[in-house]
Amino acid sequence: MSELRITYDRHGPAQEVLKLEEVPLVDLNPGQLRIRMEYANINPSDLGMIGGTYGRLPQLPAIAGREGVGTVEAIHPETRTSLNTGDRVRMPESLGAWRSHVICEPEGLIKVPSEIPAEQAATLFINPPTALLLLEEFGNLKPGDWVIQNASNSSVGTWVIQLCKLRGLHTINLVRRNELAAPLQALGADVVIDDNDDNIKQIKTLTGGNLAKLALNSVGGNSVIRLIRGMADGGTCVTFGGMVGDPIRFPTRNLIFNDVHLCGFWMDKWMRSHSQDEIQALYNRLFDLVKTNGLSSPIAGTYSLREVVDAIEAASSPRMGKVLIRA
Ligand SMILES: NC(=O)c1ccc[n+]([C@@H]2O[C@H](COP(=O)([O-])OP(=O)(O)OC[C@H]3O[C@@H](n4cnc5c(N)ncnc54)[C@H](OP(=O)(O)O)[C@@H]3O)[C@@H](O)[C@H]2O)c1
Repeated sequence: MSELRITYDRHGPAQEVLKLEEVPLVDLNPGQLRIRMEYANINPSDLGMIGGTYGRLPQLPAIAGREGVGTVEAIHPETRTSLNTGDRVRMPESLGAWRSHVICEPEGLIKVPSEIPAEQAATLFINPPTALLLLEEFGNLKPGDWVIQNASNSSVGTWVIQLCKLRGLHTINLVRRNELAAPLQALGADVVIDDNDDNIKQIKTLTGGNLAKLALNSVGGNSVIRLIRGMADGGTCVTFGGMVGDPIRFPTRNLIFNDVHLCGFWMDKWMRSHSQDEIQALYNRLFDLVKTNGLSSPIAGTYSLREVVDAIEAASSPRMGKVLIRA
């Protein structure tokens, strides 16, 4: 038996620096177990890590990928753990998720309830908690309030829409393509508009006179000007992503006359400042939202580890849903 893994030993464009390696699977030592990867996700932060632009970088050489799930395939008889073979767990982020197998110790592994489909489980650990925390930690939102966001068809964006719907909040969703209106409305979006200056001028007409208390920016550049123009006095604009790579532009008059607040959020920092129990409690809430309330992330396609370059190409193209990698 062998393990397939996607590695890189220098930073650069993923298509240029990633390598597919096949290595023999070694025997388990006491204290260890082996996980077989089912699905791994492709997130913008994976490409930032590979490219060398992300806020924290792994030691090189590294195995790519932060998020995925697998099943426990083998446990050494001298390993003490409450896990059983067949249990589904999160692939340990620090060891890389874009690999067919991983051998590790059981401490800190997050078990996923078996009712959650593997494809959904593979997308649950980075974007959904970000959406949940953005809505809970900023803007002091109450039912009836409005939230405005860009990149609304992203995984974070679609979770924001579904969570807002569940909480009686309304969403204004900026997108880059008209055809996204129907699928986002099906998820519960109130207003979906193309991210351009003309549309933002009509925002009050579309919302019945309302403006947003919270703006969520994961794009940057001029898109932030439009988000801020859709905001109410004293509102908060949180930046948590920079898909265009351009510095944020903001309209000076809204900072002065409307006292709009600008701030940032990074999930990694939240994780580092919370205990293992608090992190587990956050994931338990997300598991419940999937099991009980049917929240989900759209999936756009699935590629094998050997097709990783095609998978990254698909993940870097306009789409509605996540591109997954399977073992
Ligand atoms: N701060 C944190 O802790 C944290 C945690 C999770 C995610 N994030 C950030 O949240 C954002 C969404 O992540 P995700 O995994 O949910 O994304 P995703 O599902 O992979 O979707 C990517 C989104 O970015 C849009 N996009 C891509 N290039 C763009 C461009 N040049 N201009 C405008 N929009 C563009 C896409 O729109 P099209 O379909 O039109 O291309 C799509 O809506 C990313 O910026 C990510 O880094 C941050």
